[in-house]
Amino acid sequence: MKKTAMVFLILLLVLILHSASANEKVGKEVIELSGRDKGNIAFPHEKHQKAVKDCMICHSLFPKKMGVISDMITDGKLQDKQVMNQCLACHRDMKNTGEKTGPTSCLQCHKKP
Ligand code: HEC
Ligand code: HEC
Ligand code: HEC
Repeated sequence: MKKTAMVFLILLLVLILHSASANEKVGKEVIELSGRDKGNIAFPHEKHQKAVKDCMICHSLFPKKMGVISDMITDGKLQDKQVMNQCLACHRDMKNTGEKTGPTSCLQCHKKP
């Protein structure tokens, strides 16, 4: 009896620890992305980590590092608006299928017209 209770407790602990790490956010909640002449874009990263789940949908285009998009554009490793087109493509597709998604109009992301 004592042994079963012990095993149960250990299993419970493993379960709690596992769900805690699964819900753990990685990095900042909102990341300020540079839209150069169009002003900054407030990107809700944590919301996307939860809603999109597969990190590599975005991070196959750029690594998991702060400020990397601007650096890659400067170095010519990413084209102007390449990331933006990825944002827009996903939002438009989901909008078309009636799912809850992000903005598709310029001024909802860009602070400057
Ligand atoms: C919808 C696109 C998208 C998804 C999905 C996504 N990320 Fe990111 N991530 C970004 C962008 C954009 C940046 C900022 C890059 C920059 O600053 O140039 C970023 C930056 C990061 C950073 C560095 C910044 C920080 O706050 O530490 C880490 C770490 C990171 N992502 C981890 C992850 C992990 C882990 C997942 C999956 C659970 C994930 N990301 C899913 C778009 C995404
Ligand atoms: C979902 C958010 C989002 C929407 C909607 C959006 N953009 Fe962007 N835009 C970005 C991000 C993020 C960047 C910076 C990364 C890049 O260049 O790919 C950017 C960059 C740009 C740039 C490059 C700025 C420069 O000076 O080089 C231009 C121009 C631009 N957007 C115009 C537009 C226009 C016009 C629309 C409406 C049709 C639009 N954007 C809609 C997120 C968005
Ligand atoms: C693979 C799909 C996908 C990609 C790529 C993506 N998004 Fe989103 N976006 C979503 C979904 C789903 C939501 C709705 C999340 C929610 O409300 O929980 C969302 C919501 C948003 C919101 C609104 C959040 C709110 O509080 O209402 C903004 C702003 C946004 N996205 C900006 C961006 C920018 C900027 C990029 C590119 C750097 C991007 N998204 C890339 C799927 C995506």
